[in-house]
Amino acid sequence: MTEQEYNERREKYALLCRQISSLCEEEKDLIANMANTAAAIHATMGFFWTGFYIVRGNELVLGPFQGPSACTRIPYGKGVCGTCMKEEKTIIVPDVEEFPGHIACSSLSKSEIVVPLYCKSQLIGVLDIDSTEKDTFNEVDAYWLEHICMILGDSSDL
Ligand code: SME
Repeated sequence: MTEQEYNERREKYALLCRQISSLCEEEKDLIANMANTAAAIHATMGFFWTGFYIVRGNELVLGPFQGPSACTRIPYGKGVCGTCMKEEKTIIVPDVEEFPGHIACSSLSKSEIVVPLYCKSQLIGVLDIDSTEKDTFNEVDAYWLEHICMILGDSSDL
């Protein structure tokens, strides 16, 4: 990625954060805010799939998303999302074929980032984003998407 591409991505994320802050400011319902957040990220960044999986007991269940239909349940520790649930840290996958146990919801997905979502210090879900190109995500995405998840988690009254 060139310096200019980094800067453009930073600017888009900064705009996105302002949008999401204002979308979540007046609303405390987590599902409503997840839906608007997924839509805003998807429209601004143009990724292939953008959505949430929500913690339900020992698995993740599909939440609000934008993009093609996706798998509905992911067990704890399985795939990239279940690994994020287990390790509670952001995972960047430059090439999904190299990630052991990756769950392919679409053969078009080539790289992925998954970010934990907390509310009141408790893990309540993950934000998952897929790209049709390899090597799409880096530390800029991790930084801003973590920030977006913080805004979203803080806005909820769970
Ligand atoms: N690839 C994910 C599954 C969810 S889809 O990408 C939407 C995983 O390995 O957990």
